Amino acid sequence: MIYSIVAYGDTVLRKRAKEIEEGSVDVKTLSENMFETMHNASGVGLAAPQIGRSIRLFVIDTAPMEDEKYKDFKQVFINPEIIDESGNDWDFEEGCLSVPGIRENVNRLEKIRIRYFDVDWKEHVEEFDGIAARIIQHEFDHLEGILFTDYLTGLKKRLLKGKLAGISKGDVKVDYVMKFPKKKK
Ligand code: NI
Repeated sequence: MIYSIVAYGDTVLRKRAKEIEEGSVDVKTLSENMFETMHNASGVGLAAPQIGRSIRLFVIDTAPMEDEKYKDFKQVFINPEIIDESGNDWDFEEGCLSVPGIRENVNRLEKIRIRYFDVDWKEHVEEFDGIAARIIQHEFDHLEGILFTDYLTGLKKRLLKGKLAGISKGDVKVDYVMKFPKKKK
């Protein structure tokens, strides 16, 4: 099942998402549907708030990126907790399925250590770097109500203001189904 992806400007993208209690959500079906939604939109990461669910779950599949190290990195992260971030900071151009048509460099640290549960509620503590860490950091931010555009400089934000307002109104071309918070009926 393919969900509509919530666009920039929707309040659900600004809330701190809630922890999932084991057994309260069918995480297997939800994550399968989220993978389907994400693949349909050619994305590499999708967080539950982006389909209108304010809960702490995101999915990642780096297959389209052809990154040597994490080519087959496909994982569901439930109730994730970033334990620490380290290494050098680096710029990488990020985009977001909720913010179509905008790609900007964001500076983040290169390594993370994260604790999370998988769909079988097995706990993991793992380290990631490079592209994998980057996507996790971006998706984790969604659970905190943070979008990558929040990291841009004041000037960049002012330059993008009109474009972002346009996205909220549905004034943007996308080839996947979206829900626009300020679209006129
Ligand atoms: Ni995103």
